[in-house]
Amino acid sequence: MQIIREMGDLALALREWRDARLTIALVPTMGALHAGHMALVDAARAKADRVVASIFVNPLQFGPSEDLDRYPRQESEDARLLEHHGCDLLWMPSAAQLYPPGYATTVSVSGVSERWDGAARPGHFAGVATVVAKLFTSVRPDMAFFGEKDFQQLAVIRRMTADLGLGVTIHGVATVRDADGLALSSRNAYLNADQRVQALALPRTLEEAADAILAGEAVQAVLDDAKGKLSDAGFSRIDYFALVDAATLEPLDAPLGDMRLIAAAVVGTTRLIDNIRVISG
Ligand code: PAJ
Repeated sequence: MQIIREMGDLALALREWRDARLTIALVPTMGALHAGHMALVDAARAKADRVVASIFVNPLQFGPSEDLDRYPRQESEDARLLEHHGCDLLWMPSAAQLYPPGYATTVSVSGVSERWDGAARPGHFAGVATVVAKLFTSVRPDMAFFGEKDFQQLAVIRRMTADLGLGVTIHGVATVRDADGLALSSRNAYLNADQRVQALALPRTLEEAADAILAGEAVQAVLDDAKGKLSDAGFSRIDYFALVDAATLEPLDAPLGDMRLIAAAVVGTTRLIDNIRVISG
């Protein structure tokens, strides 16, 4: 696996592959890699001739009081994992390479960005859309892989890619969970043993709410009940717990079509998000 930091070296490596008519997949990450990220690499490996992973902790997508400075960083362990999963190239740009002096362009996606994490984390999705647009224009991949774990992010990236005609096929990959049901996340590293147990209420409550909705219970009552359960389990703040249309992320007050239950809540100082599909009929 090649490890590249400079934009010029990246261009050279990619040119060789493009000249050979090889298809290129990109897996964007912020590092602190785990089996969830590896599922994206494996899916990319299965579909493309060459797999590029990027690691960049993107300052633009962190709010002023968020965890940019303490975000876990473990470069050599990440590189080892990627190599083991057949990644061909690891790109680790610096902030100065992606956002050189004078950099002034932001990509902002309205509609699908506005609710939920967009409302709870102002500017977050503009930061995500901007860096993903930069990663796409730097690598110009044929396809890119994102996790359903960050369901709204995936919807925002699909919208941006279509709107700007970036010519990248977006693949969503199912959420990878620990055996006890907790979705893998780099931020799980912040949880102590008690909080780790409390956190399990998030996937459990999502499952229970999905079952209740499919059993015909009133959606609003199910959502209220779910929030109560999360508070009882020790979550100190619930940013949202909602039933949404899977494509538009607009809230639903009754079951309709392809739906997701999405939730974000804080345990200790850690904000966790999760979601599950609600299959009707
Ligand atoms: P990061 O949190 O590192 O996640 C990188 C990719 O891994 C995202 O597409 C995310 O949805 C996926 N992922 C994380 N946990 C997962 C899990 N348990 N199962 C499946 N996929 C999982 O998301 C970001 O970075 C950034 O916002 C980024 C897109 C890289 C832009 O900076």
